[in-house]
Amino acid sequence: MTKRDNLTILAIETSCDDTCVAILRIRNWKRKAKSWKLEILSNIVSSQVKVHAKYGGVYPTLAKREHQRNIVPVLETALKKARNPEINLIAATVGPGLEPCLWVGVNFARAISRELKLPIVPVNHIEAHILVNWLQPVNQKSKIKNQKSKTQIKNKKEFPAVCLVVSGGHTQLILMQDFGKYKILGETRDDAAGECFDKIARILGLGYPGGPAIAAEAAKFSTFNSQPRPAPLVGAGFSIKLPRPMIHQKNYDFSFSGLKTAVLYNYKQQPPKIRKSKKYIQEMAFETQEAIIEVLVSKTIKAAKEYKARTIILGGGVAANQELRKRMREKAKELNCNFLVPKPQFCTDNAVMVGITGFFHWICGEKKDWKKIKVNANLKI
Ligand code: KG4
Ligand code: ZN
Repeated sequence: MTKRDNLTILAIETSCDDTCVAILRIRNWKRKAKSWKLEILSNIVSSQVKVHAKYGGVYPTLAKREHQRNIVPVLETALKKARNPEINLIAATVGPGLEPCLWVGVNFARAISRELKLPIVPVNHIEAHILVNWLQPVNQKSKIKNQKSKTQIKNKKEFPAVCLVVSGGHTQLILMQDFGKYKILGETRDDAAGECFDKIARILGLGYPGGPAIAAEAAKFSTFNSQPRPAPLVGAGFSIKLPRPMIHQKNYDFSFSGLKTAVLYNYKQQPPKIRKSKKYIQEMAFETQEAIIEVLVSKTIKAAKEYKARTIILGGGVAANQELRKRMREKAKELNCNFLVPKPQFCTDNAVMVGITGFFHWICGEKKDWKKIKVNANLKI
């Protein structure tokens, strides 16, 4: 390190279908601090959405091939945008995720580490979805003159926290007692919440990724329903009611595959003219979103009450859903809990979250030689 007071991190994320590289700089860093000034020098996400769209979900061998194709150009763009800084540390996602995809990012990180003699910090993808919530905008008044940084990593949070991580590959409810102290309270027994959005969107012909597509259709249905109209939709056409799987069970597990089956049955029962209609698709999208959100919010709040949580944390791609954010925020307020959710761009996969998580582990003294870094597709938090 030339400037001991600045730490520049190269972060790599390839656990699913986004090839992500970010370069972060932490200014005047000290191990013990209330907050660290953070500059996001670059944050590149190369999405494979178009490649996987025709399959309605991620196709692992194709994802691996795309990562291999994209990782070098993505790194080059990230370095250029950051003006080729001197890197001090590498952070890379080692799991959980799709094993062939994880190896692309990890091997790439190992090669750079070997060549430049840099330490690597292995990062857990789920923890990264949680810790990105420590990223905060800098209070304008406290901004130091000439300092480019507009964000900071805040050290202090109120524990215990109940964290809901919901993405295309994961749905987990986690109790966080402190940094590094996690307990999985429950998780999905089959499909993840994002996967459920994706599969139902596919049935309805809404494309991939399904979450944003369903949210958009659901919003049209809500707008229509909030306007005065001659006849109520309920009873006037179809009034769809989907199950709320496991909502009343005394555990924190989830199950979403039955929801997809219920949609498929309903869809197949409709004459083609009806099931292709805007009205049907919008109502089904609305009910799908309602069912998923109600289960997620209900279980999270139940856990927050049982564990006397002081903070509720959301993370993962599904956390970009505006309705979920709104409902969780309202419920957290009723409970007098702090509520943390990342900006939508940091909910879906990105390497900034990997860099921040790597930083936290680095200041705790964790780093590894490239030879010791391995992937673990089933890594637990
Ligand atoms: O975290 P992420 O980018 O990748 C994984 O680790 O899986 O999450 C992607 C998932 C997809 O299933 C996508 O449909 C879902 O997040 N998603 C959403 C929204 N935006 C992305 N789900 C619901 N509403 C959204 N606005
Ligand atoms: Zn993710």
